Amino acid sequence: MNNAEQGSMGLIRPVSIIGTGSYLPERILTNAEIEKMVDTTDEWIVTRSGIRERRIAREDQATSDLAAEAGRQALEAAGVAPEEVDQIIVGTITQDMGFPSTACFVQNLLKARNAHCFDLAAACSGFVYALEVGRQFVATGAVRTSLVIGAEKLSVVTDWTDRTTCVLFGDGAGAAVLRSVEGQRGILGTVMGSDGSLADLLGIPGGGSRHPASTKTLEDRMHYMKMTGKEVFKHAVRTMSDATLQVLKKCDLTFDDIKMVIPHQANIRIIQAIGDRLGLPVDKVFINVEKYGNMSSATVPVALDQAIRSGRVKPGDRVVLVAFGGGFTWGAMVLEI
Ligand code: UT7
Repeated sequence: MNNAEQGSMGLIRPVSIIGTGSYLPERILTNAEIEKMVDTTDEWIVTRSGIRERRIAREDQATSDLAAEAGRQALEAAGVAPEEVDQIIVGTITQDMGFPSTACFVQNLLKARNAHCFDLAAACSGFVYALEVGRQFVATGAVRTSLVIGAEKLSVVTDWTDRTTCVLFGDGAGAAVLRSVEGQRGILGTVMGSDGSLADLLGIPGGGSRHPASTKTLEDRMHYMKMTGKEVFKHAVRTMSDATLQVLKKCDLTFDDIKMVIPHQANIRIIQAIGDRLGLPVDKVFINVEKYGNMSSATVPVALDQAIRSGRVKPGDRVVLVAFGGGFTWGAMVLEI
């Protein structure tokens, strides 16, 4: 059963995104600057990843600061006051601190005093996972308004001496406000999956309960992201393609019914390979990886916000959001704007 069918049963309400927002730090870090930091070239980075520049948050900005900016913009777009927010979910792997949750800091910044708040850890799939969790709360009537945010300050977990990873990542945040709206179908269907047997291929090994912070973990640079790039690449292409087909099948739709696919932005070659596999024309796939790099859970909501604000998708259009990340985790969703 897809989400729209659940909605038609009457017990579960359809859930729409009624406003989006995004925040990108001002500071642009170019490939030319990275050439001076590690043994790499603009040419290598552009041909292997498609990335030309990325944003870097200020030292005094934590993930919650980026998240709150995106959240504020989404609330404005939705015409919702902070005190009307019942729930804040932040998908992130760069939480402000071990605890409290980043979502609690966001609550305080937004003065959304009536919300309950929690973080969700699903790496690059964090926003799609969080949207589905928020959808379920709104669909059942448990909450009226959910604010869902994907936000990352990846620059602090990037090893700026490791050329195999440091060229890829950036900072940013994106947000969406969820509500049930009379006459709108909103989120039509979702698929989610995980494969914990491949957890070692992508993650931050140090600083948690497995390898608590110590002089040794610091010396071994275990507090930075580690990635087996080639393996991750293969899984990302296959899994995001499959998840897209699965969610369309679940909703009984074809690509003819879809205005745009908005995939996680990790590498232009991954996005192009997915487009080729699915037989999608170039203009049906949203791409902004050249400007922001991989912002983990923030990539999909930033791309969605830009697609809406630029008019590339309009009210009534159907889009597919699809993401893949460490865990492994993946998720795909069809929604009617
Ligand atoms: O968010 C979801 C998770 N992330 C992803 O989806 C990212 C997945 N992976 C990738 O995007 C790609 O695998 C990378 C961009 C990370 C790497 O591209 P690749 O085509 O898989 O390159 P590679 O790792 O096979 O490296 C090719 C060569 C190696 O040299 P040798 O062994 O052939 O001599 C690397 O050492 O390129 C070298 N290399 C670099 N050279 C210049 C690796 N990084 C760099 C660099 N500059 N920055």
